[in-house]
Amino acid sequence: MNILHIDCSPRPDSHSRQLSAAIVQRLLSLLPDAEISRRDLGFDPLPHHGSDYAAALSSAAAMSTASPTAIELSETVIREVEAANAIVIGTPMNNFTVPSVLKAWIDELLRVGRTILPTPDGKVGMLSDRPVFIGVASGGVFAGERANQPDFLTPYLSAALGCIGLKTLQFLPVQATAFLDPKSIEAARQATLADLDHSAVDLLR
Ligand SMILES: Cc1cc2nc3c(=O)[nH]c(=O)nc-3n(C[C@H](O)[C@H](O)[C@H](O)COP(=O)(O)O)c2cc1C
Repeated sequence: MNILHIDCSPRPDSHSRQLSAAIVQRLLSLLPDAEISRRDLGFDPLPHHGSDYAAALSSAAAMSTASPTAIELSETVIREVEAANAIVIGTPMNNFTVPSVLKAWIDELLRVGRTILPTPDGKVGMLSDRPVFIGVASGGVFAGERANQPDFLTPYLSAALGCIGLKTLQFLPVQATAFLDPKSIEAARQATLADLDHSAVDLLR
């Protein structure tokens, strides 16, 4: 049993880091023997892909002749996901969507012919489904009755992970971090953790 724990904030005392760590602790209470793999995109960002990778992804013919080094990082990222029974992502909302470090990871993870099968009816995921818990910290409010800004993060991650086969997603937000005092943020974190849907994890036991 393996849990892949991903963080995206560059801040050590980040709200999304605290949230993702708390989600992992909850999962460990259900899956005490689980091992944790780390991919810290906040402290150790992936490079933006270079011309070799872009060239490999430019057509099916180019991909079939791509050198192993062109897809090496993509292969590493994909294998980390394949090895995980569950995934926990802690991420800030940046400009209504995911931070660029998470986008760079997604650009390595989504690869036609490896994680995405193109069909006449659209893209079909090639990975088996597994639960993904996404702890989101936002300075303002993007979900619920008091939302006052667009939310491209939730639909984007749902579409991106969904198209490779990861469809069991749960978004666990802590919102308004710019306005709440530390006690209220802790209360918001506990409230969102109480919503954590155990059913997908129960299936893993
Ligand atoms: C570049 C940047 C863009 C941001 N854009 C948004 C935004 O669109 N909406 C929002 O609610 N907060 C936004 N914020 C605030 C962060 O979401 C907020 O500070 C959050 O708590 C950061 O996560 P962390 O505490 O895990 O570092 C932005 C912060 C930065 C640095």
